Amino acid sequence: MKKSNNLIVGLDIGTTKTCAVVGEVNEGAVDIVGIGTCPSQGLRKGMVINVENTVNSIRKAVEEAGLMAGCEITSVYTGIAGGHIQGLNSQGMVTLKNGEVFDSDVKKVIESAKAVVTPWDREVIHVIPQEFIVDDQCGIQEPVGMSGVRLEAKVHIVTGTTTSAQNIYRCANRSGLDVADLILQPLASSEATLTPDERELGVVLVDIGGGTTDIAIFHGGSIKYTSVLPIGGNHITHDIAIGLRTPIKEAEKIKKQYGCAYSSLINNDETIKVPDIGERKPKSLLRRTLGDIIMPRAEEILNLVKLEIAKSGYSDFITSGLVMTGGSVVLEGIPELAEDIFNLPVRRGCPMDIGGLKDVVNSPVYATGVGLVLWGNKNHSSNGTRIPGTTIVTRTINWIKGWFEEIF
Ligand SMILES: Nc1ncnc2c1ncn2[C@@H]1O[C@H](COP(=O)(O)OP(=O)(O)OP(=O)(O)O)[C@@H](O)[C@H]1O
Ligand SMILES: [Mg+2]
Repeated sequence: MKKSNNLIVGLDIGTTKTCAVVGEVNEGAVDIVGIGTCPSQGLRKGMVINVENTVNSIRKAVEEAGLMAGCEITSVYTGIAGGHIQGLNSQGMVTLKNGEVFDSDVKKVIESAKAVVTPWDREVIHVIPQEFIVDDQCGIQEPVGMSGVRLEAKVHIVTGTTTSAQNIYRCANRSGLDVADLILQPLASSEATLTPDERELGVVLVDIGGGTTDIAIFHGGSIKYTSVLPIGGNHITHDIAIGLRTPIKEAEKIKKQYGCAYSSLINNDETIKVPDIGERKPKSLLRRTLGDIIMPRAEEILNLVKLEIAKSGYSDFITSGLVMTGGSVVLEGIPELAEDIFNLPVRRGCPMDIGGLKDVVNSPVYATGVGLVLWGNKNHSSNGTRIPGTTIVTRTINWIKGWFEEIF
């Protein structure tokens, strides 16, 4: 069987859909070569609540992506989210015995920064260096080789409940997949949607999915704050179902087709037709009435994001404003409403810096899936080989072709 070392698969297990994205790496650049999606049924607010249903969705999405890319997928980079996620900043320090920073010192200082007390039921998902300080010189990204007597590290630590992480591993394993790495979903989304300038000047990544709203704040080129709120687009759909007395499925369709989160963008006399529960004939109503149901819920979500930004202490450091992604920001009027609420520039974030099927994934819906691939690519070792445990997929089409040629 021919093995390919340059394919990376991102598996986004979301509340509403599971999505597998296959990326091919050529000289550092990533081409998207396969994508598969399947509605999710085993998650609630970003967390697995039914292993079997989740496994079924994963299998379908992975199979579809594998067929498109012509490969058998055996290992994936996958994401984690949910209200259990906590992010905190920490600091460590070591003395430099040889008057110079070596790789081993960097490892030691990160370990010392990581030595915060983690409760028994939580595990560390990420330890991301923000900056290193050699003696009194701050803002160093690559300290190896520098002279000094003291090395300090500032890091961002992300933890989650052990059971939530284990459930993801279990679902992937039962689907026949190894997990190369588990990545916080907003970090994956930011990998796909943010520019280096935005990270440097200060930016808030907001990913509004179906069951969660994920937040990641960057400043000075590094991550400063992460948080996951257990609220998303599904709440808007529920409000529509109740407000218009229509089934959830219809409410979802109506939201996607006619929804608008900013009432003043809707013409006063615009009407739409919606099916009524128990009624045969659809009823006609003003589109503005639908907008009046959506807008307060969208405002509620965005105000919760605002509170998180205030809590982070970085409100004054987000010069680049907000980049909004996730399926719910496809909704008309979301950026306009957000600009009003935050009084900052807002843009929709679609996956960037990719080739191949980029038009297929050119939507906020795919930010996490593509971001997981890009994250995997970044964790390549610099000589082009994979960090152990991260070899991803095995090309089978070529193998099958070769096999047929040999026999016939
Ligand atoms: N065109 C659209 N207009 C309005 N809403 C949309 C549109 N497309 C998708 N959505 C909404 O986006 C949400 C799903 O987004 P996404 O696919 O990012 O979620 P997810 O990754 O499955 O969930 P989560 O990240 O919360 O676990 C749903 O609530 C859906 O109704
Ligand atoms: Mg998502």
